[in-house]
Amino acid sequence: MIAKDRIPQTLITETHIRERVATLAAEIAGTLTGEVMLVSLLRGAFMFTADLVRELSRHGIRPRIDFMTLSSYGDGTESSGKVVVTRDISDDVNGRQVLIIDDILESGRTRKFAHDLMLERGARSAQIAVLLEKPGQRAVPLEADFVGFVIEDKFVVGYGLDYANAYRELPFIGYFE
Ligand code: IMP
Ligand code: MG
Repeated sequence: MIAKDRIPQTLITETHIRERVATLAAEIAGTLTGEVMLVSLLRGAFMFTADLVRELSRHGIRPRIDFMTLSSYGDGTESSGKVVVTRDISDDVNGRQVLIIDDILESGRTRKFAHDLMLERGARSAQIAVLLEKPGQRAVPLEADFVGFVIEDKFVVGYGLDYANAYRELPFIGYFE
């Protein structure tokens, strides 16, 4: 159990995040052509998305931006393994180049679900950018196209990521001993 009033140890500093989001945006911008639609997965990716789009704009990327909420994790730290859409995008993805933005790739179930859904709906392509990736945890064989940081297998919070909906506001990424 993690008590909600505990302060996490820093894993990735605010400065380090800012620098990496900038280089990641350059990598992503180099691959995007035509009409781009960003699908940000709430709630965890909200802060990463806000920073990433500002960095992408420096490279002339003028995307549509929409949000989707997928639920798979519940309130604790164990994945339930099932993915459902609890808030859908309102834009049409048909014929568009979609970039899904997520906070962290663990089992890969959320990522695969979102990816397949976009293609089923007629997206021209569906790539994914994740801020964090935990290696060796994949339950489904699909990797992210863009990864900010590969981290150890620790439960992390901050910069959008939560534990029982707490700690999302932290400007850095932390973990508990
Ligand atoms: P996946 O479908 O197993 O890849 O799970 C991804 C989702 O689980 C993420 O979008 C997060 O919401 C949540 N998650 C996985 N690991 C962590 C963590 O270390 N901290 C906070 N949330 C996590
Ligand atoms: Mg979460």
